[in-house]
Amino acid sequence: MRLQGKVALITGSGSGIGKATSLLFAQHGAKICVADINLKGAEETASEIRAKGGEAICVEADVTNAEHIQRMIHETINKFQKIDILFNNAGMSSPLFPIEELDEAHWDKIMAVNVKSIFLACKYAVPIMKKQGGGVIINTGSIIAVRPRPRQSAYLASKAAVVNLTKGIALEVAPYRIRVNCINPVAAETPLLEKILRDSTSQEADYQKEKEKYIASVPIGRLATADDVAYAALYLASDESSMLTGACINVDGGRGV
Ligand SMILES: NC(=O)c1ccc[n+]([C@@H]2O[C@H](COP(=O)([O-])OP(=O)(O)OC[C@H]3O[C@@H](n4cnc5c(N)ncnc54)[C@H](O)[C@@H]3O)[C@@H](O)[C@H]2O)c1
Repeated sequence: MRLQGKVALITGSGSGIGKATSLLFAQHGAKICVADINLKGAEETASEIRAKGGEAICVEADVTNAEHIQRMIHETINKFQKIDILFNNAGMSSPLFPIEELDEAHWDKIMAVNVKSIFLACKYAVPIMKKQGGGVIINTGSIIAVRPRPRQSAYLASKAAVVNLTKGIALEVAPYRIRVNCINPVAAETPLLEKILRDSTSQEADYQKEKEKYIASVPIGRLATADDVAYAALYLASDESSMLTGACINVDGGRGV
């Protein structure tokens, strides 16, 4: 029980990495606010936690919307009286576009979901953590932030911003015993990865080929799982990492080296 008595607010927890992390944190004693734009997914995560004897609420929230962010924070406090851990994990990917075909509205959307969301959540959660005397913030970046690849300009720019934002906020709030760290996953077997690859290929054979090509670039020889990332988040959320702030952990099987 590495998070006994802690309260965690996890965005994008109706699916993939956020869901795996919610279940793992709950297994380690945390009470969870499951927040997602997809209420059905959020409800499923929360009921899985409850079925296993844990405590969870779920909130429908679009992380690009300041009012929704304030509501998800308010509902967490209302139910559990504090927020020890904020995991800014919600994010969206992009099909592969040459720069000249990248749509401006798509660029703005990616930046809003992947970056503005973290600004907003920190803006409203940090005052609460300061008042509590501390807290932990974890952001989900991507290995593409440190190893950029072609035709992913919007996604890689957004994730590079996540890394630097993590470091800047970490310096700012360290005196208040608030730690801010980031996880950079390599491609992980979640619906998001499937969407990137499927949107970028027209045929099943191409999809499999893209996947195999990617795996060949990972020294450990496989994609990540959502649990690989969840375990890194567990370490960052727990007091075991109390000397880490402004750090980015690459859960990447060596791809970023
Ligand atoms: N899967 C990968 O290959 C991979 C690799 C590197 C980084 N990441 C990052 O990991 C994070 C989680 O991705 P995942 O792979 O679990 O994907 P996923 O698609 O399984 O889950 C993402 C969740 O975020 C939610 N979401 C999307 N937009 C939202 C919004 N505006 N407001 C609230 N919730 C929203 C979705 O509804 C979904 O439940 C993302 O930030 C993603 O960029 C994923």
